[in-house]
Order: sequence, then C-alpha cells, then structure tokens
Amino acid sequence: MQTLDQLRESHPEIRADYTIHQHWERYGAAEHGVWKTLYERQSKVLPGRACDEFLTGLQKLHLEHDRIPDFERLSERLEKQTGWRVVAVPSLVPDEVFFDHLANRRFPAGQFIRSPSQLDYLEEPDVFHDVFGHVPMLAHPVFADYMEAYGKGGMRALNEFHALKNLARLYWYTVEFGLIRAGDGVRLYGSGIASSRTESIYSVESPSPNRIGFELERVMRTEYRIDDFQESYFVIESFDQLFAETYKDFAALYAKLATGATFKPGDLLPGDKIFTRGTHTYVGGSHAA
Ligand code: PHE
Ligand code: FE
Repeated sequence: MQTLDQLRESHPEIRADYTIHQHWERYGAAEHGVWKTLYERQSKVLPGRACDEFLTGLQKLHLEHDRIPDFERLSERLEKQTGWRVVAVPSLVPDEVFFDHLANRRFPAGQFIRSPSQLDYLEEPDVFHDVFGHVPMLAHPVFADYMEAYGKGGMRALNEFHALKNLARLYWYTVEFGLIRAGDGVRLYGSGIASSRTESIYSVESPSPNRIGFELERVMRTEYRIDDFQESYFVIESFDQLFAETYKDFAALYAKLATGATFKPGDLLPGDKIFTRGTHTYVGGSHAA
C-alpha cells in the first residue's frame, strides 16, 4: 500500500482520509464499456444465484448498467435508502482509514476500472468490484447497519484487542464471500462473488467447495485464500441472524481466540453444518473450537 505522500504524486488532491475526486468526466468510452460488459455478464448469471436482497438493491439504486456510476449521484440515491454514501479512494487504504469510513457510513470505492484484458481477475479492487459488488447490499437496512458496526468494531479490534486477523476473517467470509440460505438452496450475497462471473456460478453450484453453516467463532478461526476460488463458504440463515450474532461485545471472544486452533480454508470439522445440494446435514459431534 502506498503512503499519502506517494499517492500525492498521482493524486495531487488526495485528502487526509484518502478520498480523491472520482473525476467521472475523465472516464473514456472504453472504460464505460468495460463496466457495461461486466454488468451484462452479471445480469445473466445473478438471477437465481444472488439473494433477493442483492437483486433488490440493484433495482432500488437504479445502478447504471451501461456506464460507470457517478459516485455523487449514486450516493444521493443510496443515502435516501440507508444513509450510506460512496467516496472515491485510489485503491486500498490503511485499516484505520477504512474503518473510519465504514463507521461513518461512507463506503470507500476504487476509482479506476480494470482493463479489458482483466475482465475475470485482478488483484486490487476496482470500481466494478467495489460498486457493483458492495453497494447493492448497502441499500439493505440490516446489512447497512452491519457494515457500520463492522467499522466501529474494526477500530476496537485494531487499537484495543489487536485482533484484526480474526475480525478480517469475518469480513472475508461474510461481506466478501458470504452465502445465505434461501428455501432449500443457497444464494450468494458476498461482493467478491457477486462481481465475478465464474465464482458466482461456482459458489452456489459446484460440488467442490464446502458450504458450512455460519458460526462466528468457527469463522474467526478460519484462514482464507486470496488467490483462488474459496474452498469453504459460510452460509448465514438471514441478515438478522448475522447482525444479532455480531452486534455483541467481542471482548470475551477475542480473549478466547488468542489461543486455540486455527483452521485451514478447506478444513471440515465435526459439528460443521454442511449444505449439500440445497439441503443440509450435520457432520455430527461438536467441534472443539
Ligand atoms: N461486536 C463487535 C465488537 O464488539 C463489532 C462488530 C459488529 C464487528 C458487527 C463486526 C460486525 O467489536
Ligand atoms: Fe470488496
């Protein structure tokens, strides 16, 4: 990650909170074209795979399908729904800056868009991942509250508990790669899935990954991989459940997490509730997390 001073060379107007101008007027036709291509691909794969809350968010926000959204206009619409706004940042920002934005209902979004040769994979979050992937769920009132709480919790984890590793796993397995039970199947809501055509299909349909019932401590003990499809996804019952389980004081949990097991991304444990072909079964026993 670059420092503010380094970033000032490419973004002279960068502010102390790492926000920059989106400079929407500077996007060219090719850049809007990349957005349009990605949007069209996702509109084909998401129905039946993304949860209703995600699809409703897309509609409620009237997210632009043929051009990169102007954050100012998008923020006006989003603010009416849940009080959130979208602000532009160069790309990754320091943890405390990120948490401060979330705690104040500002979602920091990358301003650049991937090149046409990187439609399927890129290493840093761009505007398509950040806006198409994340913003629809921010129009959902409970998820919007969850994200704000996460920002506040991030500050505590960083400064008081030094437990960022554990908390980051929660973000990864919910906000970025979360699945939710829907009837007798699972649907996706995680932004990292929703902005990827191949993982949108893989996460809900492939027989290969584990789909494990969400359990807070289990998730916070599980490492994740950033370089390939997930080997395990965690499935929440509802956004109310997610909020209820996380909106409690983590102090005791962090103390517990300071010792004990860490799980590999692909591990299956006794006690994991496994979702297969839409139904779920218990592996049995209870895991000693
Ligand atoms: N409950 C967490 C804490 O006490 C904060 C938090 C809320 C974290 C929601 C993540 C999601 O620190
Ligand atoms: Fe993301």
